[in-house]
Formats: sequence, C-alpha cells, structure tokens
Amino acid sequence: FDAVDLIRTKRDHGTLTTPEIDWLVDAYTRGYVTDEQMAALAMAILLNGMTRSEIRDLTLAMIASGERMDFSTLGKPTVDKHSTGGVGDKITLPLMPLVASFGVAVPQLSGRGLGHTGGTLDKLESIPGWRASLTNEEMFAQLRDVGGVICAAGSGLAPADKKLYALRDTTGTVEAIPLIASSIMSKKIAEGTGSLVLDVKFGSGAFMQDYDRALELARTMVDLGNDAGVATTALLTDMNVPLGLAIGNANEVRESVEVLAGGGPADVRELTLALAREMLRLAGQPDADVEAALDDGRAMDTWRRAIAAQGGDPDAPLPVAQETHVVTAPSSGVLVRQDALPFGIAAWRLGAGRARMSDPVVHAAGVDLHAKPGDEVVAGQPLFTLLADDAARFPRALEAVEGAWEIAPAGTEIPARPLVAA
Ligand code: URA
Repeated sequence: FDAVDLIRTKRDHGTLTTPEIDWLVDAYTRGYVTDEQMAALAMAILLNGMTRSEIRDLTLAMIASGERMDFSTLGKPTVDKHSTGGVGDKITLPLMPLVASFGVAVPQLSGRGLGHTGGTLDKLESIPGWRASLTNEEMFAQLRDVGGVICAAGSGLAPADKKLYALRDTTGTVEAIPLIASSIMSKKIAEGTGSLVLDVKFGSGAFMQDYDRALELARTMVDLGNDAGVATTALLTDMNVPLGLAIGNANEVRESVEVLAGGGPADVRELTLALAREMLRLAGQPDADVEAALDDGRAMDTWRRAIAAQGGDPDAPLPVAQETHVVTAPSSGVLVRQDALPFGIAAWRLGAGRARMSDPVVHAAGVDLHAKPGDEVVAGQPLFTLLADDAARFPRALEAVEGAWEIAPAGTEIPARPLVAA
C-alpha cells in the first residue's frame, strides 16, 4: 500500500479496507509511514469521519500493536470503568474498592492529568509511599489477593495509540470521535477486562462539552467494546459543575475516603453508587447492595488493603497546602452557578495540574469548595479556598474563576439537573 493513496481515499470521503488499516497502523508504529502523513490522515478523518467498520479495524489494529493482557485465569469476572474526565472527578478512588468488595476483579488502568482535568494517578500519589507502576505479575497478584488495583498502563499496551495520540495533540486532531473512541477503547480492550462501564461526560468541564457529541462518542465506544467481545455500557453524566467539594489531588483523596466511610458530598456518593450498580450488573450481580458496602466499611477495608499493597500508608497524613486564600460571599442569597471549567483551570494554575506530561504536580494544591449550586449562602461566609505552595499563584487562579460563580437573591430556584442524564 501507499500512504498517500490512503490519505487521498479519506480526503475524498472514501472508505479504507481492513488490510489497508492494518498496514497503516503497523507501518506508522514502525516509522515507515511518517508523522506528516499520519497527521494529514488524522485531519481527513476529523473532517470526513469513519464508518463503524473502519473504526473497529483501527481499534483492533492499535490493540495488535502491543500486548493484550489476560485475566481469565483469575476465576472471577473482571469489570472496569473509564471516565472521559472532568473537574473534581475522583470517582475511581471510591468506586474500585466498592466494586471489588463484591468479589469481582477491578483492573483499573489509569492515567495522569493534563490541562484542567485531573488524573487518578496524580491524586493517589499524594498518599505517602503509594506506587503507580506495577509489573503485570504484581497487578495480577493484587487482583487475586485484594480484588482491585489502580495503576499506570504499561508502555506495552497499544503503543500505536500512544504515538498517534501525541501526534493528534500537536496537530489539532484530538477532537475527532472515531479517533477518540478508538484511542480509549484500544487501551481498555487490550487491558483484558471482561466488561466495561463508560462514564461519558458532557458540559463545561468535559472533554465533549456538547451533549449530542458526548452521546455519539458514547454510542461509538459502546459498539466498539461489544463488537470486540467486551460487554460495554455507558452513562452520560453532567460535568457543568465540579464533582464534590474538592478539586486537586490530596484533597480529592480526602474526599474519596469520606465517601468510603459512608459520608462525603451527595453527588460523589450518587455517581459512585450509580457506576458501581452498573459495573456489578455487568459482572452478574444486579442486586448487589452497594449502599450497604459503603456504609458498613466493606469498601473501606478493600481500599486500605489496595493502598497498602502498593506501598501506601492509608493512615498517613496527606500533604497540606502551605498557603491558602479564602474567597467569601459578597452578599447573601443562593449560589446559582459554579462553572466546572474555570474552577478546573484555577486548580491547574495553583499547581494541581500540568501543561505538559513531563511537568510535576503539587499534591496539596487545588480548590476546596464550601458551597454548591442551590445552597443558601450568607454574606461573608467562605465560598471556596484556594490551596497552593506559593501565594504568587493566587492572582492567576482568581482571574480564572472571575465570573465563574454567581449569587442570586434568596429564594431563587435553580432548575434541577440530573447528574446521570442517560
Ligand atoms: N483520551 C484518550 O485516551 N484518547 C483520546 O483520544 C482522548 C482522550
């Protein structure tokens, strides 16, 4: 095959065959198809789309570029969750131990944060001693002994995707549904999970802000998973408002532990329970009493064992910010708006996030919210606290949240928006 012919095919709204896609992904991984050619093709795909069978072929070819994990000898069902990311999205932390406490294996390969969205591994690394990188053998042993594991994906998983995702990042071609769906699903299918629940977010703090595009992404990924033999379903969830009261790293771990102790903010508990029910339904336990497992300490027990198994001390104090800046309510009334994206950007600017994958994060940095939309507030009460290691970071974080929240006169009703939309 010739790369230029394939680019022309997609440019002219044609369809690539299975052998063409197999060749392309293999030749690109080996460096025979150049970055320039792949970028042109990615742009043609972004503009003209792909058929369902092309998306499936691309996903399978990216899986075939690396290793495929296999947990079938564990002797228990495996189920995983993937979130498309958002602001304050720490759900993996309470969810993994909750689901694992029912005797199903949860192999949760996670990532790091980039830009305004946080990363599960960054959050967990605020726990002293906790280690994100495990060998395949360590991962397998933890799934067998503890039931759940949250760790970094090894470099052997879908290397073609790694190369293509980095290229898309620098060529304005991330936002193509066929490319996002195949990127995410190639990693999840290669991971070897038997079933998968997707948390596809829409709204200001989400990757796909528009509901209809999020729905199309969800449908594409669900089809890909099921076509590849992984029982896959999706929830569409609202990311217009930050999840919970903590945005950052250590503070999100703290909040997750509250949820595991049966408390925590209502929205974090609600989404954790909704995803746990769906995961356990796929794993053959449709009647699992997930609320009881949060309230009676079973999920907490699994959390403590999982953290300890990866070298972490579940009782160690978490890092605390050196500097804080409190923003108070200028008037009494009802908090009617709190936009996820600007608060995510503020946490990022405070040091909780990173602009480049090689940057470090500040574990104690972030934003603690003291009120959520719909709450009555009194003039002078704290609305949110900025957390940083250096007070010089506050002005730009404050700039980010300028106009991002609003207090209306007491009695103002805000329309109820379901957290789980579909
Ligand atoms: N996350 C991924 O892993 N890939 C994408 O393309 C987008 C988000």
